[in-house]
Amino acid sequence: AAPQLVLGFESSCDETGVALCTTEGTILGQALHSQIAMHKDYGGVVPELASRDHIRRLIPLMNQVLAQSGKTLQDVDAIAVTTGPGLPGALMAGTAFATSLAMGLGKPVIPVHHLEGHLLSPLLSATSPEFPFTALLVSGGHSQLMAVQTLGQYTLLGETLDDAAGEAFDKTAKMIGLPYPGGPALSALAERGDPTRFKLPRPMLHSGDFNFSFSGLKTAVLTTAMKLAGVAQPSETMVLNPQDKADLCASFQAAIVDVLVKKSIAATRESQHQRLVVAGGVGANRLLRTQLTEAASKRGIQVYFPELSLCTDNGAMIAFAAALRLKANPKLLN
Ligand code: KG4
Ligand code: ZN
Repeated sequence: AAPQLVLGFESSCDETGVALCTTEGTILGQALHSQIAMHKDYGGVVPELASRDHIRRLIPLMNQVLAQSGKTLQDVDAIAVTTGPGLPGALMAGTAFATSLAMGLGKPVIPVHHLEGHLLSPLLSATSPEFPFTALLVSGGHSQLMAVQTLGQYTLLGETLDDAAGEAFDKTAKMIGLPYPGGPALSALAERGDPTRFKLPRPMLHSGDFNFSFSGLKTAVLTTAMKLAGVAQPSETMVLNPQDKADLCASFQAAIVDVLVKKSIAATRESQHQRLVVAGGVGANRLLRTQLTEAASKRGIQVYFPELSLCTDNGAMIAFAAALRLKANPKLLN
């Protein structure tokens, strides 16, 4: 039978994403609008602005995807949409639009869990991992280690007890005056810094489980920054000299990557998996990618990453996750 077409929508946070995917797993078209520029002046995502912008962008992005793939809405077999987790208003913009569209077209809706979208995104790469594998999911909202037996069979091995890894990057960056989103800004600055200059904690490195905690690391950066700036109270105007700042970024990045790498390798070994898959925005971090690849190769573990553009939120991963589900269960169309 001819492959079926799934049109997917993502609007859980500050990216509006739309994509068309076949049940063979091929992305026929995708479009993305990031709201980063809009939220930048506020130092973070403003939920109300996010919801309104999703509403503005959904139809133009959808038309772009249809034009790119040479398809019409009538060719679409199912509509996929992120139903959570995320900002409630932002999610509502996407789900209200997608369900209305599906109703109008008389097509089914396939709800997609945002984290499952991230989790399966490495399967869209040219070298795609086979099941089973261990997954490190590190985004702005979540940090989890998971055992993935097969599509839909996921066991949580551990997660963060406080900040997510991306959140730790973002909050630390903000503290030392870097622009939002902090992850990319901080890691760019870290390239010019000395990662051994400051001895920062590796929280829960030896906790014997697969949980994380990053808020203590963030506090350690704050106290170091206050010492360097010669202030007794944290302040918005803490002035650090450029080299101190770069060294602090590099030391922070080294600490967080160290924990992520060691725990991911340990979880992969405990699960007796030969494959480790990384997903989520922090998966774009260059140090994480090189350190993880190096540590894994020593243990005979193969590491898989999503393409850089698919690490952060996008519509392709949502359409793809739904397409895999539809292929596995054609009854979803009834
Ligand atoms: O997956 P994502 O787009 O959103 C959520 O679902 O949360 O991830 C965004 C997060 C942000 O916290 C951002 O700072 C972080 O990923 N991030 C990075 C890098 N690129 C994005 N963190 C560290 N290094 C990077 N290169
Ligand atoms: Zn995400």
